[in-house]
Amino acid sequence: MTSSDMNYLTVALPKGKLFDYSARMLAELGYTAEGLSEKSRKLVIVNETKKIKFIITKTADLPTYVEYGAADIGIIGKDVLLEEEKNVYELLDLQFGYCRLMVAVPQALQQDSFSDYAHMRVATKFPKIAERFFRSKGIQMEIIKLNGSIELAPMVGLAEMIVDIVETGRTLKENQLIEVAQIAPATARLIANRVSFKMKFDRIHQLTEELKNLLGRGEER
Ligand code: PRP
Repeated sequence: MTSSDMNYLTVALPKGKLFDYSARMLAELGYTAEGLSEKSRKLVIVNETKKIKFIITKTADLPTYVEYGAADIGIIGKDVLLEEEKNVYELLDLQFGYCRLMVAVPQALQQDSFSDYAHMRVATKFPKIAERFFRSKGIQMEIIKLNGSIELAPMVGLAEMIVDIVETGRTLKENQLIEVAQIAPATARLIANRVSFKMKFDRIHQLTEELKNLLGRGEER
């Protein structure tokens, strides 16, 4: 399935941290629409002249919209792609939204050896990533799925550890948490629906090339 209308390119943008930069980057290439804003209550915003539809989704749901072809392409963090494991093409590393997935604990619970964390409770928005990581370390944990404000969990005794993304490190610091293991770095990626990529190849390829050029120009600056 591809985004219903062959005449339009449907672009999914995630609410949250990546929205502004994504919208600005696309606008620089002329891909924008009147009223396109994260604050917009309107969730589908159309540019009739350029035949572009923007849809604004919850971050974790974005790969699903693209996998099912409700959107042809989208911009989303590698962290979400690793967690959601959707069947989409990853076309380009957009080199913004740098963060890393990591494991953190309250200072008082820090252990000498990583295996000493076995069987502790881990709060996270990324249960699959957490599961895979601890399995790779050969230890079993109790994973507790939360939807946000993960750092709160160890402070109130819901969990002993967290698996989360860290960007500036401010949230960890303000909640006296220490990073004890790195899982993977993450940046924003351009993704595409597999069928759309074939059916709308010219438009998607052109945008990908334009984004590559824009990134190249950024590196020269
Ligand atoms: C993310 C993440 C951390 C914070 C890290 O949360 O889950 O809480 O940002 O950023 P920092 O290292 O710059 O402090 P987000 O703001 O997306 O909100 P959420 O906790 O509600 O998911």
